[in-house]
Amino acid sequence: MTSDARKLQARGKDMPFNYNVDNPQQDPPPIKAYFESSTFPNPIATQITTGMLGPRPKWTFCSGNSAMPPTVDVQPQRQPVHADADFAHPSPPFALVVNLPLITFTPENGSTEVWLGTHTGEMSGFKVQEEAHGERASGCIQEALLEQRRQV
Ligand SMILES: [Fe+2]
Repeated sequence: MTSDARKLQARGKDMPFNYNVDNPQQDPPPIKAYFESSTFPNPIATQITTGMLGPRPKWTFCSGNSAMPPTVDVQPQRQPVHADADFAHPSPPFALVVNLPLITFTPENGSTEVWLGTHTGEMSGFKVQEEAHGERASGCIQEALLEQRRQV
C-alpha cells in the first residue's frame, strides 16, 4: 500500500483524496493475507461494535485516508473537522468507525482528533455542515460552531 500511496500522491489533484490533496483515499486490498486479528477481524473492535450495535454487526465500508508526509509541492495540511456521516441518519448509534493507525501516532507526526458531538445532538446534521453530501467539503462543521465546541 505504501508504494501505491506514493503513486497516487504523484498524481496530485488527479488522485482520489479526502479534503486535502495530501490525504489519498486508498482502499486496502481485501486479500486473505490481511485477515489477521490485528487488522480486519480485530477481536477488540468486534467486541465493541457488537456491544454497541447488537449481535452480528455488518461491516459495510473499508477504506484508508492517509495523511502523507509533505513533498516539495504539497505541505502538510490539517484535515478539517467533519462528520463521517454527512447524510441523514437516525439519532441512536447506527454505525461505528474503527480506525487502525498504520504507523505510531506521536505529537510530532500528529494523530486523529475526535470531536465529541459531531454526529449527535445540536452539533450534528445538515444544518451544521458546510456543503452537501458528496462535495469535497461535505461533512465539514461550520467554523462558528467549532468555536462553540472548542469552549466545551
Ligand atoms: Fe473522517
